[in-house]
This record gives sequence, C-alpha cells and structure tokens, in this order.
Amino acid sequence: MKDNQAPQAIYLKDYRCPDYLIDKVDLTFKLYDQDTVVLSRMEVMLNPDSKVESPPLELDGGDIKLVTIKIDGELVNDDNYIVENEQLVLKAVPKSFVLEIETIIQPQSNTRLEGLYVSNGMFCTQCEAQGFRHITYFMDRPDVMSRFTTRIEADKSKYPILLSNGNPVGDGALEDGRHWVSWEDPFKKPCYLFALVAGDLACADDSFTTCSGRKVDIRLYVEPQDLDKCDHAIESLKNAMTWDEEVYGREYDLDIYMIVAVSHFNMGAMENKGLNIFNTSCVLANPATTTDAGFQRVEGVVGHEYFHNWSGNRVTCRDWFQLSLKEGFTVFRDEEFSRDMGCSIKRIEDVTYLKTYQFAEDAGPMAHPIRPDSYIEMNNFYTTTVYQKGAEVVRMIHTLVGEAGFRKGCDLYFDRHDGQAVTCDDFVCAIEEANQIDLGQFRRWYQQAGTPELEVSTAYDSGTQVLTLSVAQYCAPTPGQDKKQPFYIPLRISLFDSEGQPIVVKVKGDRSDVLYINEYDCVVPVFERKQEICFEDVSERAIPSLLRNFSAPVKLNYRCLKEDLAFLVRHDSDAFSRWDAAQKLVLLSIKEQIQNCQEGMDLVLDELVVSSFEYVLQDQSLDDALVARILMLPSEAYLVEETELSDTDAIFKVRQFFKRSIATKLEALLLSRYEGNKLSVAYEATAEQIAVRSLKNACLDYLSVLGSDVSESLCFAQLASADNMTDESAALRTIVHQQLGDWRGALDDFYNKWQHEPLVVDLWIGVQASSPAEDALAQVKALESHKAFEQTNPNKVRALYGTFANANLVNFHQGSGAGYQFHADCILAMNKINPQIAARLITPLTKWSSYNLVRQKAMCDALREIIAQPDLSNDVYEIVSKSLADQI
Ligand code: TRP
Ligand code: ZN
Repeated sequence: MKDNQAPQAIYLKDYRCPDYLIDKVDLTFKLYDQDTVVLSRMEVMLNPDSKVESPPLELDGGDIKLVTIKIDGELVNDDNYIVENEQLVLKAVPKSFVLEIETIIQPQSNTRLEGLYVSNGMFCTQCEAQGFRHITYFMDRPDVMSRFTTRIEADKSKYPILLSNGNPVGDGALEDGRHWVSWEDPFKKPCYLFALVAGDLACADDSFTTCSGRKVDIRLYVEPQDLDKCDHAIESLKNAMTWDEEVYGREYDLDIYMIVAVSHFNMGAMENKGLNIFNTSCVLANPATTTDAGFQRVEGVVGHEYFHNWSGNRVTCRDWFQLSLKEGFTVFRDEEFSRDMGCSIKRIEDVTYLKTYQFAEDAGPMAHPIRPDSYIEMNNFYTTTVYQKGAEVVRMIHTLVGEAGFRKGCDLYFDRHDGQAVTCDDFVCAIEEANQIDLGQFRRWYQQAGTPELEVSTAYDSGTQVLTLSVAQYCAPTPGQDKKQPFYIPLRISLFDSEGQPIVVKVKGDRSDVLYINEYDCVVPVFERKQEICFEDVSERAIPSLLRNFSAPVKLNYRCLKEDLAFLVRHDSDAFSRWDAAQKLVLLSIKEQIQNCQEGMDLVLDELVVSSFEYVLQDQSLDDALVARILMLPSEAYLVEETELSDTDAIFKVRQFFKRSIATKLEALLLSRYEGNKLSVAYEATAEQIAVRSLKNACLDYLSVLGSDVSESLCFAQLASADNMTDESAALRTIVHQQLGDWRGALDDFYNKWQHEPLVVDLWIGVQASSPAEDALAQVKALESHKAFEQTNPNKVRALYGTFANANLVNFHQGSGAGYQFHADCILAMNKINPQIAARLITPLTKWSSYNLVRQKAMCDALREIIAQPDLSNDVYEIVSKSLADQI
C-alpha cells in the first residue's frame, strides 16, 4: 500500500453533530435475481444544533449505483450534486424538504456480508456498524434517528416471507407472481438497526405476556429442516424477557419479536429493532446436534440481543467511539442473566476468557481503551476490549454502588435518555447522580488502555495485631499512551485463619470508601500508585484471599506460598476464589517446569497440585461444574499470555506432562468419577446435567492420555453410545487428538453421519484443525478442498482457519514457519471475499512479540507479506500496519 493511498483515521475529538436530521424514511425494495432496486424517500431538515451556515448535505454510500435524485418531487440534475469518496454531496438544499433517491444494488454478489446480501437463497441485511450505506445513500451515523417504513416486493413462490422492523401494516399481490408486504416501525432508530429478510422460511411461534399484560408474538424463522432446533432459543428469549422485567424493570415495547437464523453471518447475532438476525450457530439447538456449550451460547446470545432493546436501541450510541456504552453494558447484562439461569461457573468462564484474550489484546499492538480515540475501520473495534473489558468496567460500577444503587442509576439513565443517542459519560453521570457519588477518577477506565498490575505484599505485626497490605499499581505503556494515571481499582478482600475460618475484616483509619459486603468480605478502593491497607484485630498470621470474584480487570502479583494457595482451594468460602487459588497453584507449578524444560532438566509434578486435585475429586459435596473447571489446566493460549518470549514447544510438552502425570496418579479416582457421572436419564440442557457431563468429560480427557486399553475403549464406547452431541464430540476429540485406535475411521463415520448438519460439520472441522498431530497442517490444507468447506461462509472459515491459528499451538507455531505462511495466504484470500473476517483472522499474528525470537521473525515475515499486497481492505490494512509498527 502506497502512503498516498493509506486509509485515514477518524478521531473522537473531531466529533460534530449532524448538520441535517432525517425524521422519516420510507424505503421500497424491489428484489430480483440480479439487480435490486431501492427507493428511499426521506424527510430531511436542517439540524437546529448545527453550527455551520447553509451546510451541504453529505450522504454516505459505497458500492451502490445511483439512478435518480429528487428534491420535493423535482429531479436534481447532474450539476447540483457530486459523488466523491463514496459520498453523495448535495450543495444547496432547502432547510426542510423531501429527498427521494433511487439506487441499484447487487445482493447476490455481496460476499462481504454487510448491507443487503444473500445467504442460502434468502435475502438478509447486516447494517451495523456502517452497512446501511451499501443499501442506499444515507447519513449513516447512529446520532441520526428516524422513523422507518419498509415495503418489500419479491417473487411470491421463492420469497413467501418478507420481513422488516416493527409491525406489518399491509400486503398484496403484484403482477408476474410477485407480492408485497409493508412494515412500520413506530420507534425512531439509527439506520444500523434497520433489517430486511426475504425467503422461504419456516416459523416456530410462541408468545409472551409482559408485566403490564401486553401479549407479544414471538416468531423464530428458520430453514424448514431446522424446525426441530427452535425450542431452546424461544425458551431463552422468554426467560430473558422475564429477567429484564424483574432485574431492570424493563418491558418489551412492540407487539411482535422476530428472530431469523442465517447460515452466513460475520458475527454472533444482531439486535435489529423487532427483527434480530442470528448466526445459525447462536440460535439453533437440539440435543443430538448441539453441545452443552452450544446450548449455553444460544441462551447467552439470545439474552444479549434481547437486552439490547433497552441498552442499545431505546438508548443508543452518539457515535461509534461509544460502542462500549451498549456492548459493555449488554455483555454485563447477559453474563448476569446466564448466571441467574443457573450456570454456577459463569464468572469463572468469563474471567478465563478475559484473562486469555482481552489481556493479550491489551498487551499487543491493537491495545485500545474501551472507548477508543480513533479508528480506521470501525468493524475492527468490535473487540474483546470493548465487549468483555467494557462489561468489567460496568461490573466495577455495580460493585461500587451496590445492587440497589446500580438499579437506581440505570433507571435514571434509561428514563433520562430514552429515544436519544448518548455517550459513555452520560451513563456514568446517571449512576453518579442517582447515588450522589463522584466517579471522576474512575472514568480513566474509559480513557486508558492496558491492564493495570497490582503488586501486593503483606506484613503482619503480632504485637499490634495489624495485617498490612502494601499495594502498588502500574500500567505498562500502550500505543499512543506512554504514561498512565493511576486507576480507581475496587479490591475485594477476605482473610482466613489457620483453621480455614474467615476472619472479621476491619479496615483501619477513617475510610468511608470501604464497602463491607458482609463482616468477612470487603471491597477496598485502590486509587494511588502506592497505598497501604491495614486490617485491625487480626489475631494471627492470616491468609488473604485477594481480588475476590475478580473485582477488577487487573493482574494481581502477590507472591504467596504455594501451600497458602492449596489451603485456599480447600477452605475459601467462595467457589470462584477456590478455583482462582487452584489455577494460581497450577500456573506456578507449570511455569517452574517450563523453566526446567528449557534448561533440559527432568520434569517433576508438584505434589501440591496432585493433592489439591485429589481433594476436589474426592469431595462429593462440591459442585461438579466447579470440580471440572478446577481440573481444567490453564489453556495453551493462557500460558502464552502468562510467559514471556513464549516457547510453544515447551508449553505444549509441560502441559502434556502435567496431564499425563495427573492422570497416572489419580487414575482410579478419575475412573470412578467418570463412571459415577454417567447419566441414565434423557438429555436435558439443564445446569445440573451440564455440570455432571462436564465433570465426566473432564475425567475422560485425562484418562484418554494414558493410552491404555481401558482408556481407549472408554472413548470408543462413549462415541458409539452417546445420545447427545456433548458426549459424542468430546469422545471424538480425545480419539482424534490422541490418535487412538482407528481414529481416521471414527472421523469418517462421524462425517458420514452428520454431513447434512452444517453446525456439526463445523465441530468436525474444528476437531481436526486443533489436532496436535504432526500432519495437522496437511490435514487442514486437505480440508480446504473438502466439499464441506466454503470460503464464503464465515462459520466454515472460523472452524478451519480460525481454529488452526487460535487453538493449535504446536502446529500453527511450528518452527519452520509453515503455519504462519499458510495463514497469511488464507488471510489474503479472505481479504478479497470478506474483509471483516480476514481482519479477525489476523489476531493471532498480531501477538508476535509474545513468542521467542525465531517465531517473532517468522510471524513478522508473514505480516510483511500481507502488507506488501495491493488492494488490501481498510480492515486488513489497519490491523497489519499497526502490528508492524514495532516490527523486528
Ligand atoms: N451488535 C452486535 C452484537 O450484538 C454485533 C454485530 C453483529 C456486528 N453483526 C455485526 C458488528 C457485524 C459488526 C459487524 O454484539
Ligand atoms: Zn451486542
């Protein structure tokens, strides 16, 4: 890419309100097999807040063919407008007028999957963030909110179902076997929430009566063969509607709630007003074809999109820099929802994800605050930082003001800003006002990127009976932010005595900011670079349990004894903290052995790890889901995040060593928990059953590495007898990854059995792409030409290329660099087909500085090969160029 063509960044500091407003939009779509005609009639007026004298009207576009423009019914001739940089600019326009624009688009050849496109013969739209401009010329920005009507015309036999936002208001027949349907959305909305669907779809329906007694029709539209996979999503939706009424006092506001499942989709799902569009992977679920994780994902995503109706749609974002206003908040809401639906280890899962992927993003070249200052391509900022770290920031606010205070703040926020497009700061202000508090310093979480580190040490004075915690905070520089100001960090703490009993916590001094959750558990804000926290009346050397429930998204460096961690695994009163202690213990031991491995010494298994695992496996009173989570060794990706100049071979070797040695030592116990957790009742995706299966399959995973006849036959027996996809795919995975028996035959049989279920085929692809076997790269290449693979389908691309690069440590990072080379070629192929997906595939390469020098160079070579190509999309250009800013 030459400098003079380098794409330009957009800055938050340049924000200006729109010069015009579009009050009302009437759209007509004439859908055909080739050209689709779009007629747009807009009521435009000068924005009274605009500071500009007679501003030109600038409408965004892109890849659309302009046919005609009319102002107040008069054709605008060629001299009175220009099309420049994809924008349509009208120089002199009245203060208030009707603008009509006719354009032509080609949805059939749209492989980018933004704007209007075709998936399996069905027309559908994706307008967030800036897809609407590929449908018609418009002010494609979220602070322009309009009332929409939509008329759709299409062939009646091919497209009997025609949907858009809001309520249906008319339909009728047309010539040539065509028909039309009209929709009206009574709520003002930004155009990113517009949606249209046309297809031959089956419908599962139900209804929900809201707290004020209004009946809402629920309709889930799917391809006819998927009608048997609708129940769980509908149940989840009704649960989400009830939950939002109970927890936030928020009711649904239209008479109809529609969800459409589509196979080709860039992300998980989209919250379009009244007409959510979902990736099939996030809505379809059936015991035979869907794993427990899949069921939980459906529940979470259905909840997420539903919750957006208030946090996103009724109150929306002023500009895209404010994305975390809706996404961070809505992720926080869906996390809490899933926990309330019974997932006891939800917090553990979410924290694991954050520490593995968000911490890595914060440590890399794409690090940005949850409210970024600039972007080249907005689609690149739908990140784990904006979503998951954004949710942590909302969670910290929740912690600081408490359940009731948070509800008061949210009530004020929703009531004050209903129908508006607002900023993250408006949210913080509402919380502050409702609670009479000052979140001034706390706001730095919105401005500063990077993961703060807390350095904690303790000193106990038996004379005064005071336990002192010395806390220092530090945050490493991130791109564009060399120096950081101290963060406001809620640190949640408990203390335990040598018997494992909690100690009453009493923070010394006159600190009105300390929050006591109960007498044993408190939240102490840390806001200076260095600070001391003193606990009074501590009668013995207490063992602290720090950062309980992960009260802030920080790295905690507390050098404690491994014995203390093993002690907390047994005695901490809180499940999250027990898991956290176990993870820290295992992590310390694994790190020691990685060092040993690199120094060519023999590997040894820490007795404390074995005894801790033995303890949790033996304690039948513990929650099975928790035991399964404790047994799960830190992932390879997390070990990369936790080590410097990571040696991927050593990480893999040590992790395998731990698995094998633990399995050897605890074989009998693992076997008995495996047998004891076989369910004899019919499959249900309940929290209880999911917990039982998770422990069973965690045991199987350990046993499978023993390579004994017993363990091999266990895996094959489970594969043959499974009546659900959780057990079936878990068995297939161990068989393939350990290359047990006729593993190739098992793969073939599985494919033959499930080839007509695309989501199961994705699992089948993923199992192979993540295999540590030596020929896995060759296998991945072979799969590229398998008839099940399609570069135009993001689910297939994620299953093959995404899994290989993100979940196959040894093969992606093989010393020859062949894994990186292959991946660079995939990214370049995808750049032409679907830039959003291509850009997301780059993520594993952006983390080059985490690996040892040989890998660093090979990864940078791959990035340089990409940047050298002409015709890079903005999406790919932005990420690769930022990744190479500090290249070696
Ligand atoms: N707003 C969507 C969500 O619920 C995100 C999303 C869906 C999206 N599809 C997209 C973002 C396409 C960018 C591009 O999180
Ligand atoms: Zn969202």
